[in-house]
Amino acid sequence: MNKKWWQDAIVYEIYCKSFCDTNGDGIGDLKGVISKLPVLKDLGINCIWFTPIYTSPQVDNGYDVADYKNIDPAYGTLDDFKTLLDTAHDMGIRVIMDMVLNHSSDECFWFKESRKSKDNPYRNYYIWQPPKNGKEPNNWGSYFREGNGSAWEFDETTGEYYLHQYAIKMPDLNWEYEPLRKEIYDMLNWWIDLGVDGFRLDVFTRLKKTPGFPDTTRKPNALDRNGFVADSAMCTNIEGIHDILHELYTEVFGKRDVMTVGEGAGVSYDNAPDYASAGREEIDMVYHFELGNRSKYHISPQNFREVQKNWATVFDKNAWAVQYLSNHDSARQVSCYGNDSDALRAPSAKLLATLLHTTPGTPFIYQGEEIGMVNVKYDTIEDYNCCYTLGDYHAMMEKGVSPKDAIDVLAPRSRDNARTPYQWNDRENAGFTTGKPWLKVNPRYKDINLEKDLTSKNSIFNYYKKLIAMRKDCPAIVDGSLEFILEDSEQIVAYLRKCMRQTLLIVANYSDKEASFKMPNEFSNYAFKRLLTNYDDNLPILEFNRNLLPYEVEVYELNKQISVKD
Ligand code: GLC
Ligand code: CA
Repeated sequence: MNKKWWQDAIVYEIYCKSFCDTNGDGIGDLKGVISKLPVLKDLGINCIWFTPIYTSPQVDNGYDVADYKNIDPAYGTLDDFKTLLDTAHDMGIRVIMDMVLNHSSDECFWFKESRKSKDNPYRNYYIWQPPKNGKEPNNWGSYFREGNGSAWEFDETTGEYYLHQYAIKMPDLNWEYEPLRKEIYDMLNWWIDLGVDGFRLDVFTRLKKTPGFPDTTRKPNALDRNGFVADSAMCTNIEGIHDILHELYTEVFGKRDVMTVGEGAGVSYDNAPDYASAGREEIDMVYHFELGNRSKYHISPQNFREVQKNWATVFDKNAWAVQYLSNHDSARQVSCYGNDSDALRAPSAKLLATLLHTTPGTPFIYQGEEIGMVNVKYDTIEDYNCCYTLGDYHAMMEKGVSPKDAIDVLAPRSRDNARTPYQWNDRENAGFTTGKPWLKVNPRYKDINLEKDLTSKNSIFNYYKKLIAMRKDCPAIVDGSLEFILEDSEQIVAYLRKCMRQTLLIVANYSDKEASFKMPNEFSNYAFKRLLTNYDDNLPILEFNRNLLPYEVEVYELNKQISVKD
């Protein structure tokens, strides 16, 4: 397989709204991103993924797109974006855009037209159904649980319902309708002509809905409301989805030099190759939810090995995937999968980074992860913004849960954990804005911020730099096989990455206690060269048995020793 640029890329995800504000309105903007590009260059990343920055009423922070060909005025102008593209490209950084193709905002021109009359030329851009016995067309519930909880919203003007899997203000687009598809292809080509290097495809597995819109037979769960069931199975991986993606590929992606990464809701190692194998001509790579599981927020060494081994089979099938643990939709990785106490935050953040950057796939860094930003907890629901948190809170209030208990349950998994403003320094509002930030700053910014990390040799940021630089020099990380050792260990995760030119050994104590470590005999003939440690270069190298410190991680290059006989 010819190596593609995105296979050895390091992608950095920017949530513009929370990154850097330059005009004091409390909202991050493109000029802010431009001003920080040198920091990102210094970190070593070479690709940026922007979450949606198009014109939007911001019901879901931009995932509700009102104008697919323009930049939201709060972020800047199209000219600012062009400047950003040119500046980034000059620095060797590519830029990919988030494409929300499952739904638009109800303020999008297409929808405004569509709802006007049943014979409007845009009517079929969306999914309209007449009432059934005077009610919603079926029992599907929406993920954000607004209104009465249904995924259908009645529209007075034409007396019909439209489908919205997410917010009421986010109607689903109708991919069955060819003119809509053509319009989307033109729009994608327009962005490519402008110079973008690819797309992250939002909920790409949900473009096709179950034909005939039958009721789901799944029983309501604790948060479902009024008998409406938010059952993703009704609109995820539905037969025909591959035809849609293949057409997208033949009409757009396949003709141009762009990369596509799909948000794999409902994608597992068994169906991933159907979407992302090169021969399928659909998308280039997926990211999945099997490691960072939002409902559990815990990874054991056993769990880590299992998921990575399963996904190794995907790579064997000529497909590609992402390594990540957090993004704008999750809580902070160090709080969920590491340990965010003062003592263990840095070592555990570095350990997680090392595991993600040394296993097969393209690593994605979410803004703030490189300085070990942590979860936040607000006292009242008024301080929260995330649609899921608000919807679930609403549902819990209806069920009689107290506000405090509801926040205790919702806070650790709220997406707002990831969306607090970037912590640049220890001054007011963490240096993010001179105004009032749109979402409250995490109070730990005095201790956790970039400025502090830049001045300390052993900081998380400086570790990321070393890790990224090391990765670029190690062919085994991108091309090598993956082989776990010490597979029975409940504390240690250890694996080899091997290619023709190189053998690497990664050893991690994925626990908050010391772990005794014995190097397996099979390595006695090897010379160990330590490439990286998250503790101290003075620690003895691991060819000698010793205890590993909590969250200690080490990367070695192994070289066979030629034995010299007397
Ligand atoms: C994806 C996005 C998320 C958004 C949802 C609806 O999951 O990552 O932020 O709320 O799609 O567009
Ligand atoms: Ca601003």
